Amino acid sequence: MIVSPSLLSADFGNLARDLEMINQSKAQMLHLDVMDGVFVPNISFGFPVIKYVQQLCKKPLDVHLMIVEPQKFVNEVRDCGAAIMNVHYEACNHLDRVVQQIHDAGMKAGVTINPATPVCLLRDIVAQLDLVLLMSVNPGFGGQKFIPNTLNKVRELRALMAETGSRAVIEVDGGVNDVTGKQLAAAGADVLVAGNYVFKDTDPLKAIETLYNL
Ligand code: DX5
Ligand code: ZN
Repeated sequence: MIVSPSLLSADFGNLARDLEMINQSKAQMLHLDVMDGVFVPNISFGFPVIKYVQQLCKKPLDVHLMIVEPQKFVNEVRDCGAAIMNVHYEACNHLDRVVQQIHDAGMKAGVTINPATPVCLLRDIVAQLDLVLLMSVNPGFGGQKFIPNTLNKVRELRALMAETGSRAVIEVDGGVNDVTGKQLAAAGADVLVAGNYVFKDTDPLKAIETLYNL
């Protein structure tokens, strides 16, 4: 399993220490949650923080934008060193164009859907994506409870991808732990995002390894 720990739950007073832990870990990516207080009812961190993270982190950056009008910031996200730029389906009026802009900027393109957004709405874009991010909580906060219907959505997405010839990877975000992670692995998820499960554990390296071994 590919593991993408979510920095949102890290200790921001000891960011360099937590990033060194990520460097030493089996995590293959680092998930960064950008919130604007408009698309979601919370504000997290922005580009200056991500630039600093990029200097210290050896893993590819998986940037999850929970913001309105993400198309305005494609170049900023690229300049932060992001490998993957995830935009919300619900935030884009012209999703096809945004996906092209992300690719033109040299990044992998991910599209994220909220728990109440059906997988079938991705039918005409999924073949162009490198990643689909399924939210398994309502976005905005770490430490929430996993929504079990996500397991059905993973299976449905896998079938849609087979039908459309999509080679995207399936990432799941929210309420992931050893139990829900195992269920997601069985359902066909490729990448697990985990915030609280990793950073609130007394042994975060072991928590990452547990998910990695699923
Ligand atoms: C929620 C964020 C998540 C969050 C996950 O809006 O997108 O990435 O950090 O946190 P946990 O794993 O604690 O649910
Ligand atoms: Zn996220």
